Amino acid sequence: MNLILLGPPGAGKGTQAAKIIGKYEIPHISTGDIFRENIKEGTPLGKKAQEYMNRGELVPDSLVIEIATDRLTKDDCKEGFLLDGFPRTVEQAEALDKFLAEDGKKVDHVLNIDVEADILMKRLTGRRVCKGCGATFHITNIPPKVEGVCDVCGEELYQRDDDTEETVANRIEVYNSQTKPLIDYYEKSGNISHLDGSVDPDELLAEIVKILGD
Ligand code: AP5
Ligand code: MG
Ligand code: ZN
Repeated sequence: MNLILLGPPGAGKGTQAAKIIGKYEIPHISTGDIFRENIKEGTPLGKKAQEYMNRGELVPDSLVIEIATDRLTKDDCKEGFLLDGFPRTVEQAEALDKFLAEDGKKVDHVLNIDVEADILMKRLTGRRVCKGCGATFHITNIPPKVEGVCDVCGEELYQRDDDTEETVANRIEVYNSQTKPLIDYYEKSGNISHLDGSVDPDELLAEIVKILGD
């Protein structure tokens, strides 16, 4: 099961990914998470990616394609994978198709989660993420039991550097101009489903399970 989660920033890709991998036991591959790991560790890749991310711009295709395809060669991807935040441009999508085809594989399904822009802004500026385990919360939509503390592991919660109003606005614009065309790209291969991401997270998961099957 080779899956892609598509959708604007704040659509709930990461939130659903955590639920989907619990059910289907495939690895969750988020290029954003890979970059944030590298920024935390101060690697050369992290240094390169950080300047783009803080402006809400896309990291250059050549770099992202290399990182993503390298991750997909790992053993845990043999039975399938869930991509979150990759591909994000037509060039990345074409590179992914080519990479998979070399191994006789393909993208089996694309889950496109859609949410209105004003909801996205509220979700992202109110998001809090765990420093320890990466679990995602929201100050009003999905609040932790104790303010500022992760329900899962008890570590401190933080706000992502790119979750400021200004950067979020740019991320949404970049999504509309560079990533949205991927909907048409996958529409042509006929393996895309459209989901309303404004509903409750568990309701959305139930819709996804209906599409993917048990
Ligand atoms: P990335 O980390 O991928 O960020 P993004 O695509 O902007 O998406 P987010 O992670 O912000 O949103 P999400 O859809 O995962 O929402 P979440 O579940 O957290 O990328 C970051 C940056 O890295 C990019 O800007 C770019 O610079 C670079 N990058 C990464 N990949 C790249 C690529 N392929 N090419 C080039 N550059 C790349 O939910 C958001 C909030 O809403 C949370 O607070 C959550 O609790 C809440 N929430 C979730 N679902 C619901 C719901 N159903 N109801 C109410 N609240 C909800
Ligand atoms: Mg995410
Ligand atoms: Zn945690």
